[in-house]
Amino acid sequence: MRILVTAGPTREFIDPVRFISNRSSGKMGYAVARAAQEKGHEVILVSGPSALEAPHGVEFVRVDSATDMLAAVRERVVRCDALVMAAAVCDWRPAAPTLTKLRKDEFKGPLVLVPTPDVLLSIAPLKERRIFVGFAAETGDAEAGGTRKLLAKSLDMVVANDVSSHDAGFEVDTNRVSFICRDVEPVRLPLMSKDEVGTRIVEWIERFAR
Ligand code: CTP
Repeated sequence: MRILVTAGPTREFIDPVRFISNRSSGKMGYAVARAAQEKGHEVILVSGPSALEAPHGVEFVRVDSATDMLAAVRERVVRCDALVMAAAVCDWRPAAPTLTKLRKDEFKGPLVLVPTPDVLLSIAPLKERRIFVGFAAETGDAEAGGTRKLLAKSLDMVVANDVSSHDAGFEVDTNRVSFICRDVEPVRLPLMSKDEVGTRIVEWIERFAR
């Protein structure tokens, strides 16, 4: 199969030297990309800024903003059989980014933010028979939030994780996730490495495609 994976945060610039972003390291998405590549799939990895090295053998596309990520995904998803949207896309961006650095005394605030495009919602019309997997980063009831996103974003599966715990979610090497699909009980996986979660996600896609 040809699998498109997104990973990492996005950066939404205020001026050329400052941006807003989030805590995503890219580890979960890179783990999915690596697992898919190791299982013999063709992989395109669209990544926001991350300190990680691109896994060997994947087609690597580096982006900054949510708008860039949407453009990169829209262009490539039509060539793919499956999409795993692990990126932590910023939901807001500064309304009026400047081309030159803002001097301390030039900015009086407040910083006005406007919504970024939702990548999954924007590409939902391109889904057809493709398999779309999303993530849900939650600080409360991860399964309730995940189920809401499964339906709202026309997904085949949501990987829901509680990002408020110290051993799962952002930055760490481990994750505790539930696989949420339509019409079946959520599958709760125990704490495991992000590499192992990546492998489980790819195995799920392989089974679902049959
Ligand atoms: N996502 C996206 N475009 C955005 C924001 C999120 O495509 N602008 C994707 C993420 O990559 C993820 C899924 O949507 O696969 C859910 O992301 P999450 O941040 O958990 O939820 P949001 O849709 O941002 O909703 P909320 O902020 O209400 O939790």
